[in-house]
Amino acid sequence: MTSSTSTRKTAETSTPVHPLIGERWSPRGFDRRYVLDDGALLSLLEAARWAPSANNSQPWRFLPTRRNEVTFDQLTDLLAPGNRSWAPAASALVLVAAQTADDTGRPRPWALYDTGQAVAALTIQAQATGLSVHQMGGFDADAARRIFNLDSTLTPVVVLAVGRHDADARLPEPLAAREHASRSREPLDALLLTDRGSLTHRGPLTDTGRADTA
Ligand SMILES: Cc1cc2nc3c(=O)[nH]c(=O)nc-3n(C[C@H](O)[C@H](O)[C@H](O)COP(=O)(O)O)c2cc1C
Repeated sequence: MTSSTSTRKTAETSTPVHPLIGERWSPRGFDRRYVLDDGALLSLLEAARWAPSANNSQPWRFLPTRRNEVTFDQLTDLLAPGNRSWAPAASALVLVAAQTADDTGRPRPWALYDTGQAVAALTIQAQATGLSVHQMGGFDADAARRIFNLDSTLTPVVVLAVGRHDADARLPEPLAAREHASRSREPLDALLLTDRGSLTHRGPLTDTGRADTA
């Protein structure tokens, strides 16, 4: 059985969110036979391209590669051992780098932030097209810089595993257990930098945007 609906890890939310947000999760079980065609890969990169960025600087850079390509194996070798145990089953690996300085060497302070937004857009585009993305910070960024000749303005940030989720994929423990565990997050209240009371305990917002506490 191979289906992104066969293992649902729907977010338990305090208020409804769009299914593309609520249903997205990061699997480690990928269908190792699934081939990502050019169009599918391009649409992911296109979604990333249209992310917002500071001054429209678009500091994200991508090195996409598909299974059975030399670059795919090179990227696999750079992964931390835990990631290397499952990520090669993905259809594509994408090295993501941020241009953290411009051509004159001046820092781009929002480059990492912007690049994260581009990956978020890519991830939601994947979810909308029945694909899954698992981001990995566990890789040797210095070696990536060397092997792929990245200039000093580029900071390797993550490697993305992209493919079709396979609920029956074999994973080593403890990853197999994690694959089926429910997802969790901090409560929304814990994220609010406010002492004005809990947002979730306020009344509905009026159309002026103020909480209607009357
Ligand atoms: C920047 C970043 C780095 C990550 N690095 C790894 C990693 O090296 N290995 C891994 O298995 N998951 C990694 N993840 C995935 C997170 O563990 C995962 O997104 C988080 O546990 C929430 O799970 P969910 O995406 O299924 O909601 C990373 C995620 C992000 C955003």
